[in-house]
Amino acid sequence: MESSDSLEWIEDELRAIRGKNLFRMLTEIASGQSPEILIGGKKHILLASNNYMGLSTDPRVVQAAAEALAKYGTGSGGSRLVSGSSDLHAELERKIAEFKSTEAAILFSSGYLANVGTIAALVGEGDTVFSDELNHASIIDGCRLSRARVEVYPHLDTDSLDRMVSRSRGGGKKLIVTDTVFSMDGDLADLREVCEVSERHGCMLMVDEAHAMGVLGEKGSGATEHFGVEDRVPVVMGTLSKAVGSLGGYVAGSRSLVDFIRNRVRSYIFDTSLPAASLAASIEAIGIIEGEPQRRKHLKDLVDTFKVGLCDMGFNVLPSQSAIVPVLTGEPEATLELASALRKRGIYTPAVRPPSVPAGKCRIRASLMATHTEDHISRALEGFGAAAEFVKSSLLRRR
Ligand SMILES: Cc1ncc(COP(=O)(O)O)c(C=O)c1O
Repeated sequence: MESSDSLEWIEDELRAIRGKNLFRMLTEIASGQSPEILIGGKKHILLASNNYMGLSTDPRVVQAAAEALAKYGTGSGGSRLVSGSSDLHAELERKIAEFKSTEAAILFSSGYLANVGTIAALVGEGDTVFSDELNHASIIDGCRLSRARVEVYPHLDTDSLDRMVSRSRGGGKKLIVTDTVFSMDGDLADLREVCEVSERHGCMLMVDEAHAMGVLGEKGSGATEHFGVEDRVPVVMGTLSKAVGSLGGYVAGSRSLVDFIRNRVRSYIFDTSLPAASLAASIEAIGIIEGEPQRRKHLKDLVDTFKVGLCDMGFNVLPSQSAIVPVLTGEPEATLELASALRKRGIYTPAVRPPSVPAGKCRIRASLMATHTEDHISRALEGFGAAAEFVKSSLLRRR
């Protein structure tokens, strides 16, 4: 038997994925995450980035990263507990804690690692996690890794959550975990209600602010600020890879929580820390998020115009409350066709299919940035109109 024969099953698996129109491929972009990007030498309007505040290309952020790169070099050299802890790590943790109005914060190399490691350390065998059905994959994986019992509650349904927690037997710890802004739907968990349930039953509560930080709240710190519950959520997780425009994840909360994570969380202890350029970029970007609320106002205006335009053309736009505008398309084939028709018209936005979303709920997930202009949005709307006409007529031709 050839050594490669043992991997033959992979070909079968790939054929099955292709057969269902679920095969994933990469698109090479030859520019930064700007409102207009270069794909194959051609300009496209980018409606696919989580760089919501447009800060990954902001000259001040880039300058801060460049200076840190020159001073500290490229890599951090080790995990925080060995040799990889710099003054920039400490400064960014202080900045995040202040921004999120918590006592302390702790950095991870990514939001994914923050979720997986923290959940697995907060609960274990004999404990129970209550998790929204549309929570991010990193939360789901953290729950699996923890070996706790997982009870999945219907999306945003705090009455069901309340009933589930009341009925839950067993003496272990209880953890409620939810995204604040949901990554594929762009909608928002009502944190006041979630806090009430959690407090009524004495549960731990952990929220994921990945898509809310920078976008929601007066100073842009996220959904805990938006709902005025900063002092009621004991475990606040977030990422620096989206509106902050850099890389990394964090957990913010009490000093004891942070000390516990530093001593117990494996994805923190056994992972090389973030490099200086990313840290300096995040410090600068958080300052801009706080100091320039007009970016949030502009983004919200653009999102409103875009949604109204799409609805007027008959698109099925989900009721999001963030920079994410999901256009429901149903099945993978139709979704791929629309994404490809948009691409031909110079608009880049992804076809989202299972397992990122449930079967039958495929969508074009458009996301807007504060650096888009009204002109980008009106050109994008023209593109959606033309692409939809094209897809409709090609479907009719095939019937
Ligand atoms: C809700 C949510 N949580 C966590 C993550 C993971 O964050 P990161 O990309 O920083 O690993 C993501 C990113 O995709 C996300 O959408």
